[in-house]
Amino acid sequence: MSELIKDIEILGQQEQPKEEQACETVRVSKTTSTGKSRKLYIESYGCQMNFSDSEIVTSIMEKEGFDTTSQFEEADVVFLNTCSIREKAEQTVRTRLSQFNSVKKSKPEMMIGVLGCMAERLKEKLLEEEKIVDLVVGPDAYRDLPNLVSKVDDGQKAVNTFLSKEETYADISPVRLNSNGVTAFISIMRGCDNMCSFCVVPFTRGRERSRSPHSIVKEAQELFDQGYKEVTLLGQNVDSYKWAEDLDENQKKAIEKSEAKDIVSFAKLLELVAEVSPELRVRFSTSHPKDITEDVLYAMKKHENICKYIHFPAQSGNTRVLKLMNRTYTREEYIDKIDSIRRILGDECGISSDMITGFCTETEEEHQETISLMEYVKYDFSYMFFYSERPGTLAEKKYEDDIPLEVKKRRLQEIISKQQELSHMRNQLDVGKVYKVLIEGYSKKSKDQLQGRNTANKVIVFDKKNYQKGQYANVLVTSCTGATLLGEIVE
Ligand code: SAH
Ligand code: SF4
Ligand code: F3S
Repeated sequence: MSELIKDIEILGQQEQPKEEQACETVRVSKTTSTGKSRKLYIESYGCQMNFSDSEIVTSIMEKEGFDTTSQFEEADVVFLNTCSIREKAEQTVRTRLSQFNSVKKSKPEMMIGVLGCMAERLKEKLLEEEKIVDLVVGPDAYRDLPNLVSKVDDGQKAVNTFLSKEETYADISPVRLNSNGVTAFISIMRGCDNMCSFCVVPFTRGRERSRSPHSIVKEAQELFDQGYKEVTLLGQNVDSYKWAEDLDENQKKAIEKSEAKDIVSFAKLLELVAEVSPELRVRFSTSHPKDITEDVLYAMKKHENICKYIHFPAQSGNTRVLKLMNRTYTREEYIDKIDSIRRILGDECGISSDMITGFCTETEEEHQETISLMEYVKYDFSYMFFYSERPGTLAEKKYEDDIPLEVKKRRLQEIISKQQELSHMRNQLDVGKVYKVLIEGYSKKSKDQLQGRNTANKVIVFDKKNYQKGQYANVLVTSCTGATLLGEIVE
């Protein structure tokens, strides 16, 4: 196992601030010393797709003669892989750039690059606004990094924000920065065609495209051969994964409109990955409520190693707001899908959501419908946000951002309290049950305890006995807190 795998450092996260529950994780490269001539520091923000992309970037840069470092002061090249999803995410990056400024004063040759969604959104403008930035690279242009870096070496500034219809980086073996050696991400698709009116992702990540099933299964097999026990298949909208082998573009378009059987759908892909080994767990994220099919649910039911957990973002519980959001489902249709999940996979399937409060024109009654949807579904967990208007999105163009910030925040606090109550209730239902847990490492508090997750994605902490990470253990849940289950191994 390489040092890099063990060395991922996570700053912040999970204990989310009350005001805005967000994916505020920052991930930082750690030190590798393989005698290469230059050092790269890479810091990643945003979603799992971005963390996964940083692994691809590191792979490309390693081949160009870079070791990685966890100390930006000692780096020759500093990359920030950025997120634009909410205004706050962009502010965080701006603040970070100003911190780099003082280091760059005493080390002017240090190259600073902005990668990812903010690079794509702002393009050349970023060079004007942030004078210390040398390099701006969008999410589909990472293969061009060697060329762009050498341009900066020659004293120029470099920008590539070309968005591709084909790029999936299928042939690049990611350097596993984000892993504990047990679990890993596999990107199966890129981009998003959904155009939710609040969301910047379709603009920063471009059109949806799927990676070949062959390259995905091969990557899962390689990970399993290296000792990994869990893969998470990643995409903004995994249920619209679609692949047809050996077809030209026109044929692919024709097939997209038909129900042809030779297409590899997401359900089929899940099965292919699950068949790598019964010892390899398979997870996936994110499912769009309009696209998830019963085939996916039946594939989950059929394979014990496909984890019974669905991240199923509702965004709102009110049909009028959902329509304004362009989510393309109603409250009733969402509830129908939840009922199908419960009917096919039972009550023990974990379900989580993303919710936005204070979207344009949302009334108190409509906000209450979000709360009543939460009560109906009884989510195990939710990521919750107040609406943040993003430049260039449909909502910014069409609707007024008219809910005062205090109201957005108060509503957010209300749904957070509701979720805490629901999480606690769902956790209490697990007390007394025995779960198969994949051990991911020591618990945060003690080296005498281990932690892992059950199939429903719940974290369980228990005394170590003679077990170690990477093993499966049967754990009896003996008690719980709001966020964690506590248990003991039963042999
Ligand atoms: N593809 C995923 C979501 C990716 S973005 C999906 O469709 O579910 C992650 C979450 O950020 C979204 O689900 C949404 O809840 C939140 N989000 C996106 N844009 C936002 C905005 N402008 N303001 C507040 N939250 C936003
Ligand atoms: Fe954004 Fe909607 Fe696409 Fe998710 S599905 S990334 S929320 S546009
Ligand atoms: Fe952020 Fe881009 Fe992901 S905007 S949430 S890093 S796709």
